[in-house]
Order: sequence, then structure tokens, then C-alpha cells
Amino acid sequence: MKYIKILFFLIAIQISAQQGGMWIPSLLEGMNETEMQNLGSKMTAKDIWDVNSASLKDAIIHFNGGCTGEIISERGLILTNHHCGYGAIQSHSSVEHDYLKDGFWAMSEAEELPNPGMYVTFIKRIDDVSKEVFKGVTESMTAKEKQSKIDKNIVIVKKNAVKENWQEVKVRAFYKGNQYLLFVLENYTDIRMVGAPPTSIGKFGSDTDNWMWPRHTGDFSLFRIYADKDNRPAKYSKDNVPFKPKHFLPISLDGVAEEDFTLVFGFPGRTDEYLPAVAIEQTVKKINPAKINIRENYLKIVDEYMRADDKIKIQYASKYAGIANYWKKWIGENQGIEKSNAIANKQRLEVKFQNKVKNNSEYDHLLQDFDRLYKELDDVARARAYWTEVAYRNVELLRATVRLYQFEQKVTANPSSFESERDKLIKASKGNYKNYNAKVDRDVFEKLIEIYGTKIPATYLSDKLKNVNYTDLTNTIYTKSKLTNAEDFKSLLEGNQQEVLSKLNTDPAYVLGKNLSNDFFNKINPKFQAINLQIQDVQKVYMKALMETFPEERFFPDANSTLRVTYGKVKGYYPKDGVYYKPVSHLKGVMEKYKPGDYEFDVDQKLIDLYNAKDFGVYGENGKMPVNFLGTNHTTGGNSGSPAIDAHGNLIGLNFDRVWEGTMSDLNYDPEICRNIMVDARYILFIIDKYAGNKRLINEMKLVHPKK
Ligand code: ARG
Ligand code: ASP
Repeated sequence: MKYIKILFFLIAIQISAQQGGMWIPSLLEGMNETEMQNLGSKMTAKDIWDVNSASLKDAIIHFNGGCTGEIISERGLILTNHHCGYGAIQSHSSVEHDYLKDGFWAMSEAEELPNPGMYVTFIKRIDDVSKEVFKGVTESMTAKEKQSKIDKNIVIVKKNAVKENWQEVKVRAFYKGNQYLLFVLENYTDIRMVGAPPTSIGKFGSDTDNWMWPRHTGDFSLFRIYADKDNRPAKYSKDNVPFKPKHFLPISLDGVAEEDFTLVFGFPGRTDEYLPAVAIEQTVKKINPAKINIRENYLKIVDEYMRADDKIKIQYASKYAGIANYWKKWIGENQGIEKSNAIANKQRLEVKFQNKVKNNSEYDHLLQDFDRLYKELDDVARARAYWTEVAYRNVELLRATVRLYQFEQKVTANPSSFESERDKLIKASKGNYKNYNAKVDRDVFEKLIEIYGTKIPATYLSDKLKNVNYTDLTNTIYTKSKLTNAEDFKSLLEGNQQEVLSKLNTDPAYVLGKNLSNDFFNKINPKFQAINLQIQDVQKVYMKALMETFPEERFFPDANSTLRVTYGKVKGYYPKDGVYYKPVSHLKGVMEKYKPGDYEFDVDQKLIDLYNAKDFGVYGENGKMPVNFLGTNHTTGGNSGSPAIDAHGNLIGLNFDRVWEGTMSDLNYDPEICRNIMVDARYILFIIDKYAGNKRLINEMKLVHPKK
């Protein structure tokens, strides 16, 4: 009964109207469909999602678990971002064969390059399984008991799911655990690299322009799905053939104008739109500053090495970009929260909420609970941030010790796994050492371990870091440890289990790392998780309470890496008083930013020639070549590579970023200032056709003129 009430409630909520939100594609009928049509869409909910016949969803894939991609030909051609294909482009590159620098264009299918480990996922069906998942869960249970019952039910639900034997199932919580959906999916694993522009196009503006408008980046790359003869998922084989999709996206040659309808379809990773003010305050005032400071130091050190040495530049390009990306995002997020008075606004909402629920004994204590729990979380959340950033994310040597620590735990508990665990370590280490430079890592370590040792709340400081001289510690570790190069690492792992573990436990890097890992896995994380579980329990009730208390508002479920639809319009914005940013940028802007020889803003001669000759083919517009455009679609990390789709279901752009003033959208979406950034589909075609001269790819696509 309770569940039915919630369900009605979710439906009722989807009926009021506004912008923003990331909606579940199988539940668009009703409010979302009307809203989309009011914004100019000519599509029905069924055109977007239809389990039984071809619909837009059949062209959308989760790309390698983190990004989105879309199918743009009947031969399984995938379009995604350059930064999503980056790891693959890098792994096929060397100083002699630098596809990052020069781009890569397969001139035939035979030249397309396999990528071991890469996979893409289609979503075939979505079922609401809330009723089954909540079966036997009662109010008298503790949070832990509830969760364990839910987990057991999920196992049963997954086992009973109707699916083909090559398909998989997944169950995910929505609305903070008030709703559960089951996904039936198909994973394809023979994915080949087809094309990528040089970094000077695909990553033009690099970290300086990242998260910014005006933007001029051709952030795209091309891959292809291969399948067996029955079009089913199959391991890599020479005999596999291009995958034949149920649907692929035609590409519009007509471009965009301000106010045009846009739909972005993809896999947003994570948002937290319904946090209480105390939580946002903690993130913005405590957690973000700690992480920003650590990364700032990492970036300064690595940047110097990269500028001085081409090999290090290739080795560290991907790592650097990854660290820089969120470093910059958190800075923007903090500024946005401050500027939009997000905390004060949440507090006002909470006063209103508290007034409305003051006689409701289920809800009246929620905000107090949050206050108490976030206070309790404060120290351990900061400790966790320091540990994660220093021991896991930024110092590679320490990350290696975490893997070794888990190895030691596993083989000690289960000695028969020794051989296979050791093999796994050796395999993983090959890739890691290929891109490892001990000098760089040493400098990073020295700086970061001191920050860790001086800033982490005292109760969480490891014995091994009490009263040490950080420079001496660094010297000892980086001269004596066997973890600083591939050969020593391999020799360290030679011998039987006892020998390996005893060698390991005398290695100075491991001795420190083990101490840090013990702190984390035995102290920091268990405490963090225990409090967090309680917070989640409160957050679940709070979510339900918000929806009941403010029935006039519309609530979408926070992003959780599942497939979502977000829609809006092409639109500029006012970044600050007196300034308006237009929604479309052009190739002219690339030339304005051009700095010969600069690694961020260099421009390839061929692109300059095309620009000077105004040789834009059918892709230009009034003698200009559009490059990027802005929309009001509500996106987040994971939406990279998502298609931007017009009112008729054609591809008009490729999502890749958001604007600086709006990066707070993960915590506080504001339609006035939050914008997503897309590459104009015509720029992509122009680069493939005019710049790379790759007609075979253009010929397999379907180019259309919906506006004519
Ligand atoms: N900010 C975008 C996203 O979060 C693009 C990141 C890749 N580009 C870069 N310059 N690092 O993924
Ligand atoms: N650039 C992000 C991504 O890679 C998208 C975003 O955060 O807006 O998914």
C-alpha cells in the first residue's frame, strides 16, 4: 500500500512543469512528454523509448562504463568524446606513432584498432521492481536490517529476471532508495578505434579552456562495435563483423539557432540535488578546499615536468587531465554555490519545510538528525578526503601499496589464490609502469605526504608519520623501495607466498603504505561508512518528505550512472552583470586563441589553410564554421559523449562539458546560469571530411536536412 502511494506520488510529481532534471527514459509519458513538446519537440515518448520497436534508445550506449556514446551508422559506428577515447588513443601511441599529437584515421575497416578491455553497454529494458525489493522490509527494522533485507531481495529479483542468456541485469536505487529499477543490458566487447582528431583539435584549449565558455574544442572520437555473425556480443576476433544496430542517429546538416529544442540522452554519473544545507556547507567549506589544495600541488609539479620532457608529456597527459579536471570543477562549484547563495536558499527551504512538518513525528526530526550526523562525520570525512587524494589518487607509489595491501589480505585469507592474484598484479603493473616516472612521483610524494601529515585530523594520523622528517622519509623510500620500477617490482613478487610477503614487509614504501591502508580500511572507512549509512537512511525519508511536503515542485531522481533524458533549449547566458554570452562559437575563435607552439592553443596548419580558404563544404553556415554551442540541458560527468538531439530525433551535437559559472549544477541546478557545452555536429563532419579526408566514414552516415 505504502509503495503504491509513493508510486502515485512520483507520477503526480512528474506533472507540474519547469526546466532541468534528468529523467528516466521509460517514464516520459505524461509530464515530460508535454514539457518537451512545449519546448518544440516533435517526438513522442515512444519515439525516445520503446521496448518493442526501434527507438532513440537503441542508438545510445554507455561507453566503457564512464562516458556515453551513440551509434551513427548502420555499421555500428560510435561517436563519443575525444576525452572519452583518450585512454585508447594514448595506449596506441608512442613517441614515433603519436596519435594524440597527430590524430588517427583508419582508412578502411581493416585498419581499425582493437582495444582490449573496452566495452559498451546497451540498455534493453527497464522494469520497476520496487515492490519486490521492499518485500518484508518493515518500519521497525534498523537501517542495517532494512538494507540487508533489501540486498537479499535484490539478489532474488535479479535471479528471477526474464532475459536472454547473453544479457545481464542490474538493479539500482532511485529517489534515495524510494524506488528500485531493474535494467536488462547487453555488453559488447570488441570495440575498435576508428578515428580521432589531433589533440590540437580534440582537446583545443586543454585545461585552460576546460569548464569554460566561449569554447572551441572538437572533442570527439570514433569507434566501432564488432559482433559475431548473429550480431551478438563476442570477444575480439578477426572474424567478427560490424554490428548492425536496431537504430542509429541521422545527422542534421541544418545546425542550431538560439531557442531550438535539444535533448541529451546519456549516462549521468552522480548528482546530489537534495542534500541539506549542512551537507553542502561541509562539501564547500571543508572537503573541496582540502582536495583542491592537494591537487593544486600535484598539478604544479607535474606540469613542470611535462613541459620539459616529451616522453613525460605523453606518459602523464591522461593522468594530468584527470586530476586537473575535477580540481577545476570543485573551484567553480565552490564559487557558484557562494554566488548563488545556495546554502542560504537551502536553509530558507528548510525553515519552510520544518514549519510544514512540525506536527509530523516521522519528519519533524530529520533536519536535526542531519545536523548531528554531519557534525559527527566532519573529521572522518576530511580524513577520508586526505587519504583518498594522497594515498590513492595522486601518489602512484602509494596507490601501488594499496593494491599490494589488498593482495596481502587476500592471499593471507586464501593462500590458494596466491598464484592468480600475483598474476593479476603483474598484468596490471605493466600498464602502470609504462606511464610511470619515479622522479615525478617522488616530488609529488614529498609535497603531498607533508600535507597529509600536517593536515589530517590528529586521530587519523598514522604512527609512521608522527615526528618524521618528510624529506628524509621521501629519500629513503624512493632510493630503497622496489616499487619504483617494473623490474624490481617483478623481482619483489618472485618466490613462494611466504617469501613474497616477507620481502614485501621490509620494503620501505610498502611499510608506510600498509600503515596508511590499515588506517583507512580499519579506522577511517568503517567509521565513515557507518555514519554514512545513517545519513542515507535519513536522506531517504527526507526525499520522500520533500516530495510530499512540496507537491507543486517537480522532483527528478539524482543521477546514478543509469540512462537518462534531459531536455532544454539552445541558449546563451549572463555570466556576470552586463555581459551576455552568445550560444554559438565559430572557427574564427580558434584562430583568435591560436598561440603557435603552445601545447594548449596551437593550431594545425591544415586547419588554418581550410579556415583561410573558407573551405567549409556543406558544413559551414553563411561563410562561418560553427564549432561549439550551449544548451540548458541538465548534465553531469558521464554525460560526456552524449548525443544532442533535435526536435525530430537527429543528431545536432555532442555533449562534452559545462560552463564554469554552472558547475555547481551537481548540487544546485539553476536554469539561469547552468549550461552544457556541445560540439556542433557539422564541425565533426567538417573535420572528418575536409580535414582528415575520410570520405568512407561520411558515406556510411545518414546526413539530413530537417529544417528544409
Ligand atoms: N570538463 C569535461 C568533463 O568533465 C571535459 C574534461 C576533459 N577535458 C580536459 N581538458 N581535461 O569531463
Ligand atoms: N565533461 C563531463 C564528462 O566527461 C561532462 C560534465 O561534467 O559536464 O562526462
